[in-house]
Amino acid sequence: MWSMHFPIWLFIQHNLTVLEEVDLSFNNFYSPAVPNWLWDVNGLKSLNLEANELSCPFPNKLGNLTLLETLNIAGNNVQGIIPGTMQNMCNLRSLDLSANNIDMDITEVIDRIPNCSWKHLQELNLRYANITGTTLQFVSNLTSLTMFDVSENQLSGPVPVEIGTLTNLTHLYLGSNNLIGVLSEDHFAGLMNLKYIDLSHNNLELVIDLHWVPPFSLDVASFPSCHLGPQFPEWLQWQKSIRYLDISNNGLVGRIPDWFWTSFSEARHLDISMNQLSGDLPLNLEFMSMITLSMRSNLLTGLIPKLPTTVVVLDISMNSLNGFVSDFRAPQLQVAVLFSNSISGAIPTSICEMQQLRILDLSNNLLSKELPDCGRNEPKQRNPSSSNFSRVKTMSSFSLRITTLLLSNNSFSSRFPLFLRQCPSLICLDLTQNRFTGELPGWIGEVMHGLVILRLRSNNFSGHIPVEIMELHDVRILDLSNNNFSGAIPQYVKNMKALTGTATANDSIAYDILFEGYRDKYLASGMGLSNDSFLVVIKGQVLEYRKNILYLMSIDLSCNSLTGEIPDELSSLGGLISLNLSSNLLSGNIPYKIGNLRSLESLDLSKNKLGGEIPQGLSDLTYLSYLNLSYNNLSGRIPSGHQLDTL
Ligand SMILES: *[C@@H]1O[C@H](CO)[C@@H](O)[C@H](O)[C@H]1NC(C)=O
Ligand SMILES: *[C@@H]1O[C@H](CO)[C@@H](O)[C@H](O)[C@H]1NC(C)=O
Ligand SMILES: *[C@@H]1O[C@H](CO)[C@@H](O)[C@H](O)[C@H]1NC(C)=O
Ligand SMILES: *[C@@H]1O[C@H](CO)[C@@H](O)[C@H](O)[C@H]1NC(C)=O
Ligand SMILES: *[C@@H]1O[C@H](CO)[C@@H](O)[C@H](O)[C@H]1NC(C)=O
Ligand SMILES: *[C@@H]1O[C@H](CO)[C@@H](O)[C@H](O)[C@H]1NC(C)=O
Ligand SMILES: *[C@@H]1O[C@H](CO)[C@@H](O)[C@H](O)[C@H]1NC(C)=O
Ligand SMILES: *[C@@H]1O[C@H](CO)[C@@H](O)[C@H](O)[C@H]1NC(C)=O
Ligand SMILES: *[C@@H]1O[C@H](CO)[C@@H](O)[C@H](O)[C@H]1NC(C)=O
Ligand SMILES: *[C@@H]1O[C@H](CO)[C@@H](O)[C@H](O)[C@H]1NC(C)=O
Ligand SMILES: *[C@@H]1O[C@H](CO)[C@@H](O)[C@H](O)[C@H]1NC(C)=O
Ligand SMILES: *[C@@H]1O[C@H](CO)[C@@H](O)[C@H](O)[C@H]1NC(C)=O
Repeated sequence: MWSMHFPIWLFIQHNLTVLEEVDLSFNNFYSPAVPNWLWDVNGLKSLNLEANELSCPFPNKLGNLTLLETLNIAGNNVQGIIPGTMQNMCNLRSLDLSANNIDMDITEVIDRIPNCSWKHLQELNLRYANITGTTLQFVSNLTSLTMFDVSENQLSGPVPVEIGTLTNLTHLYLGSNNLIGVLSEDHFAGLMNLKYIDLSHNNLELVIDLHWVPPFSLDVASFPSCHLGPQFPEWLQWQKSIRYLDISNNGLVGRIPDWFWTSFSEARHLDISMNQLSGDLPLNLEFMSMITLSMRSNLLTGLIPKLPTTVVVLDISMNSLNGFVSDFRAPQLQVAVLFSNSISGAIPTSICEMQQLRILDLSNNLLSKELPDCGRNEPKQRNPSSSNFSRVKTMSSFSLRITTLLLSNNSFSSRFPLFLRQCPSLICLDLTQNRFTGELPGWIGEVMHGLVILRLRSNNFSGHIPVEIMELHDVRILDLSNNNFSGAIPQYVKNMKALTGTATANDSIAYDILFEGYRDKYLASGMGLSNDSFLVVIKGQVLEYRKNILYLMSIDLSCNSLTGEIPDELSSLGGLISLNLSSNLLSGNIPYKIGNLRSLESLDLSKNKLGGEIPQGLSDLTYLSYLNLSYNNLSGRIPSGHQLDTL
């Protein structure tokens, strides 16, 4: 057999009638589509034109390729892609039209596929092709199908029971359509070879006898929102070779059955989120093999178990768990989303060994005491014989990779955690609403130089705001409000380059680390599943922060005991959108150059001891929609003009 790759011209002189396979995938033919000689190669059995940005319809001569067995036109941009002349292509085994804008009713698409080939057609891929239609009844004529993918289209109507007669079917992808109705055991009766199934994002209801024994043994089972509940589907327990299981949002009620953990001990991705599952989790899941585990938004109680060494992404947020097992460990964990539980006690010291951890969200829990001081403990464990151990050395030899640490709304009560000295990669730190006390250390600016978001709001921090905080070049959200900071606002704010609007901060880096990178990395790739099913895993708070990063630049120092004048330099923060210095003891004048804060939408200087005249420059703030200068000693006229007239 001849197989052909570039360069084409080398082959054109040769006798093309012997050519059986042409693979021109991933090139950039613009119109006029494909080289004309191609349609005269009558002996062709396999033609791959995937991903070529083809944009005109295929010529009628395509129908001359009557020996064609494999035709792949996926990932082009051709409307009305299938010519009506294919009626003699009786040998077609595999047809891939996915990721095109076919824009037809599905019965019309099937009619274009030569009826002499129906009985032999094994692979039909119409994923993401803008196909409509209300019936899939035609499948009863495609008896040899092994792979049937119509996901991500606009199909409606029921799934015909005849689909259960496709005994050779291994891949069934119906996800992301508007299919309706009930699927019963009968729909699966003959599918003894089925390995991959995706019914996600439809309006389907799976009504199946709990004690049914399926004829198949699945690898990938995607059943989110399929109304499987209220009882946990017992029939799943026979699916021991499952690698990917998603039964989120199925109205499941009651305890997770014991067999769940053993039947799926080899699974890599498990998602049982958004149900009403209750009861304690097992204390030890080390014998399992999953990479991602999502149990978000259930009614689970008990402790956070010892996890398998393989776990990378864990989401048990929005449950009622109350602590960590004493020997908690998860060496590969990168994303731990545990917010809104009732977790009390201290964060386990084993966190110091989690060298891969990137995102830790423990907001809205009952955690107290101190964070572990990894700098003190960890090296001793590693090198117990060393008695000649300087702290400075410790610092440089050991650090964590955490980028996002969210601890808001707990009961931590220490000084600013030394733990953070081990976190030089931090981008987002939220300690809001705890009982942290004492002064902020100068090393904030040095150690956490990449911080984009720093929220220390509603604690009991005191002392001066350290000058070093101005070394946070990338900071965009600085919220120190509602503490007991005293002294003057530091000068040199110019160093906060992101806030000056000179745009050195790199959105795509922060965006990627906070969120996006995890999507592609751990998505069950090649399984025909939609990205969205994974997105759910780390949505919630992290996603909200992502939005802030892109749009909000703010400084909030309100409700402290700050004294002195508002530094003139503040007016160099041309990117600032919101500035709140309310409820302090600030005196002096409002800086004359305040009009330089061109991006400002909200300015709150109320409840201070500011005096003098209100600077005319305020009227230059064209985006200003909130201004509060009340409860000061300001005098003179309120400036007029521009934006101020509209307030
Ligand atoms: C090729 O197709 C054209 C038009 O569809 C037809 O006229 C011609 O006879 C075909 N040639 C062969 C060799 O099948
Ligand atoms: C699908 O086809 C409709 C026309 O029926 C068109 O308006 C729409 O843009 C197409 N959608 C995509 C995603 O190509
Ligand atoms: C197959 O299609 C041809 C032309 O489209 C039609 O004439 C013929 O009746 C069909 N055969 C069957 C068995 O449906
Ligand atoms: C199956 O094929 C036969 C013969 O071409 C046709 O009459 C029938 O309508 C087809 N059934 C469906 C559901 O398309
Ligand atoms: C199913 O596949 C087997 C083995 O490839 C084949 O022998 C059989 O004919 C196929 N069955 C159908 C209904 O196509
Ligand atoms: C703080 O956490 C508790 C416990 O999870 C929760 O009930 C409460 O709503 C949270 N408060 C805020 C303001 O989020
Ligand atoms: C301590 O460490 C330093 C530098 O590593 C070394 O020069 C010195 O000899 C060590 N002292 C002892 C007592 O081990
Ligand atoms: C805040 O810290 C001070 C000492 O810095 C302490 O006296 C005070 O009790 C603390 N307040 C609260 C509410 O914890
Ligand atoms: C604020 O700090 C001062 C010392 O700077 C202290 O006297 C005062 O008690 C603190 N206030 C609160 C509410 O903790
Ligand atoms: C931001 O970072 C991305 C990824 O590292 C890089 O491709 C891009 O060029 C950077 N942009 C700027 C403005 O530095
Ligand atoms: C998932 O998202 C990535 C990037 O956004 C995209 O390249 C990829 O094709 C998507 N995969 C699926 C199955 O939709
Ligand atoms: C400024 O902070 C004070 C106290 O924290 C708050 O009451 C006020 O709403 C804030 N102003 C704006 C515009 O957010």
